[in-house]
Amino acid sequence: MYRTHNNGELRASNINQEVTLSGWTQKIRNKGFMIWLDLRDRYGLTQLIFDEERSPKEVMQTAANLGREFVIQIKGTVIERESKNPAMPTGDIEILVKELIVLNESLTPPFTIEDDTDGGEDLRMKYRYLDIRRNPVRENLIFRHKVTMAVRNYLSAKDFVEIETPYLIKSTPEGARDFVVPSRMNAGQFYALPQSPQTFKQLLMVGGMDKYFQIVKCFRDEDLRADRQPEFTQIDCEMAFVEQEDILQTFEGLTRHLLKEINGVEVGEFPRMTYDEAMYRYGNDKPDIRFGMEFGYLNEVAQHKEFNVFNNAEVVIGIAIPGGNSYTRKEIDKLIDWVKRPQIGALGMVYCRCNDDGSYKSSVDKFYDQEDLARWSEVTGAKSGDLICVLSGDTEKVRAQMSALRMEVAERLGLRKADEFAPLWVVDFPLLEWDEDTERFHAMHHPFTSPKPGQMELLKTNPGDVKANAYDLVLNGNEIGGGSIRIHDKDIQSKMFDYLGFTEEEAKAQFGFLMDAFQYGAPPHGGIAFGLDRLVSILGGQETIRDFIAFPKNNAGRDVMIDAPAPIDKEQLVELNLKLDISEE
Ligand code: AMO
Repeated sequence: MYRTHNNGELRASNINQEVTLSGWTQKIRNKGFMIWLDLRDRYGLTQLIFDEERSPKEVMQTAANLGREFVIQIKGTVIERESKNPAMPTGDIEILVKELIVLNESLTPPFTIEDDTDGGEDLRMKYRYLDIRRNPVRENLIFRHKVTMAVRNYLSAKDFVEIETPYLIKSTPEGARDFVVPSRMNAGQFYALPQSPQTFKQLLMVGGMDKYFQIVKCFRDEDLRADRQPEFTQIDCEMAFVEQEDILQTFEGLTRHLLKEINGVEVGEFPRMTYDEAMYRYGNDKPDIRFGMEFGYLNEVAQHKEFNVFNNAEVVIGIAIPGGNSYTRKEIDKLIDWVKRPQIGALGMVYCRCNDDGSYKSSVDKFYDQEDLARWSEVTGAKSGDLICVLSGDTEKVRAQMSALRMEVAERLGLRKADEFAPLWVVDFPLLEWDEDTERFHAMHHPFTSPKPGQMELLKTNPGDVKANAYDLVLNGNEIGGGSIRIHDKDIQSKMFDYLGFTEEEAKAQFGFLMDAFQYGAPPHGGIAFGLDRLVSILGGQETIRDFIAFPKNNAGRDVMIDAPAPIDKEQLVELNLKLDISEE
């Protein structure tokens, strides 16, 4: 038997017991006559003591030669510690070692296996199995497991059935590029890895499964960010005989359950906001509503003077930074530089200090008097001590810039508190989105999303105004889920493909199977998919999903540990009927 107890388990009540422990050597303090060693496993640390007077000689000798991260097994007696460590669950005891077996040696690890490690991100990725030995990473993975279990239990109790759908499929249009897999048996043909199980879950509804979910890998070849991985996990769900309200209620229930079960936080009914309202008030379709700083539209109170920058602008938007009047001139200049960075792209920023005595001091005092500025403060909700920041220009651009500024300032002010949770439904998304590159409308969610009742006609005249039965669940400024009520009528679905610019042949080739299925009694249905990685990281108080994935990819989409992607053998290429770099031959 390798162990009678784990390393997080022994307490004062175990004193005098003979135990066997196994694990990795963490910290070693060698005083010659006495050696202390922290033994670690998944469950914690236990202090071992090797004592010249009480441990056998050969044990002392072996112990003196132990290095970091050796795997050892020991037998010994639980004794009371002389200097107790209340910070450690096992801090009242230590093990007086009588037998020591080295199960495996270890090279010196390239970084320290401690909470605050000296290893940089790249090194930790390359040796991820060592990184996983560190508390923060291990705890994140266990946290993810708890969330996943809670999801499965909740949905299963509500009659949802978890059903697996295939990974080797045909393109599913979710807006990203596909990862493709060549077929050896079908020369020149490719499978696509699913960007989501969208079409299959709809087919399960046609199959009468009624309530489906799946915790499932999805694959999208898109540019990566802190909240995006090329392969990620969805909690994918679909229900038949439902309207939007049923979906919102069901998955609000799930989210509320998770917040309570995992975070011990009770939240009331989730607020709802239309897409248009979210864009108007926050310039963003996933607003963080944990704090204010809502947009104030200053057109009326700022376009009546000689200041042409504002006069020529489509919108003039201000926000009030709480306490911002304490910023020095230098700090304000830095903020201006920040909004002028190419990533944000503002041409400049006007500001107005709201002094404690009720007076105002702006960067455009030449044009605006105290009365004007008082109206600015009214519109933005600024109080004495605040700083009003103003951007102007094209509506879409200014909203995006102001939204970025709002988030940045909130981050700097510590208003984005990790243990505060503000969920929000954003509803009534536009059905279509204009794409500058292809100069045509695309489905904003996906082409199976149904327009709001009675809006089909609008498609012909004002396609950009058509709203969809589509919704997103936002948590603390992150889109953690999105879904829609689907089209279940074959004719409407083919009309939609037509509007989206698919020829009849293209639609048939790509989605003929779905259209066929719709001819055999497709029930009304709809669903949602949560991004599990995002959900877990936000519940865990962080926003980088990599930290909650056992073996993530880096920003270039590489797994630096196994070194993938990688070239494949010539023979394999031939077998797959692939000829890559022809110039090589
Ligand atoms: P959508 O494309 O909105 O919807 O995806 C659902 C959720 O998945 C998460 N997500 C990601 N997480 C990590 N890395 C990525 N690259 C990534 N892309 C998306 C987000 C997002 O909200 N089939 C539809 C759902 C439906 O209509 O039911 C779909 O996939 O949190």
